[in-house]
Amino acid sequence: MDIHAFRQSDPEYLLSLLLRYRILRIPLGLTFSAADLARDIPDVHIGAFDGDRILATLTLTASGSGAIQMRQVAVDDTLQGQGIGKAIALYAEEYAKKEGYTLIHCHARVVAAPFYTALGYETIGDEFVEVGIAHYHMQKKLGAIL
Ligand SMILES: CC(C)(COP(=O)(O)OP(=O)(O)OC[C@H]1O[C@@H](n2cnc3c(N)ncnc32)[C@H](O)[C@@H]1OP(=O)(O)O)[C@@H](O)C(=O)NCCC(=O)NCCS
Repeated sequence: MDIHAFRQSDPEYLLSLLLRYRILRIPLGLTFSAADLARDIPDVHIGAFDGDRILATLTLTASGSGAIQMRQVAVDDTLQGQGIGKAIALYAEEYAKKEGYTLIHCHARVVAAPFYTALGYETIGDEFVEVGIAHYHMQKKLGAIL
């Protein structure tokens, strides 16, 4: 498995968008709006690949004051529960640390919150609704690079 970062203008982006659409949007009866796609342009995208096949993806969005948001975390549904989500999230944390970020946070779907808890994220505040489903705001401090 190869995990690497890419940009919206790179060929990997289309693969990641298709995976995000299949895993995160179709089950909710949603699609991507033009604003959703525009939001991806300045972001860093990370993917796990087996050759040309994308296994998992996530997106990192700078959110000010040394913080970065991890969003659009999606693992191929035939490969979930095998450690790929953890591997890509840890890669994203290391990437963010190297870029100088001190805090990583996310809007975690309640059903996915145990995944973030297993990675050391803490829940901040109350449950809220986004894209029609319950979420928690979760965050993790990024330690210094040794
Ligand atoms: C949530 C998701 C990203 C997790 O990725 P994954 O590859 O399935 O998870 P992993 O196998 O890497 O699990 C990592 C750890 O989280 C735990 N975990 C993952 N999903 C969990 C769940 N639903 N409930 C409890 N624990 C969970 C695992 O037990 C594992 O713990 P360990 O390190 O102590 O063994 C993936 O299942 C997914 O894409 N789900 C559908 C889309 C989604 O909900 N995305 C997140 C939106 S916020």
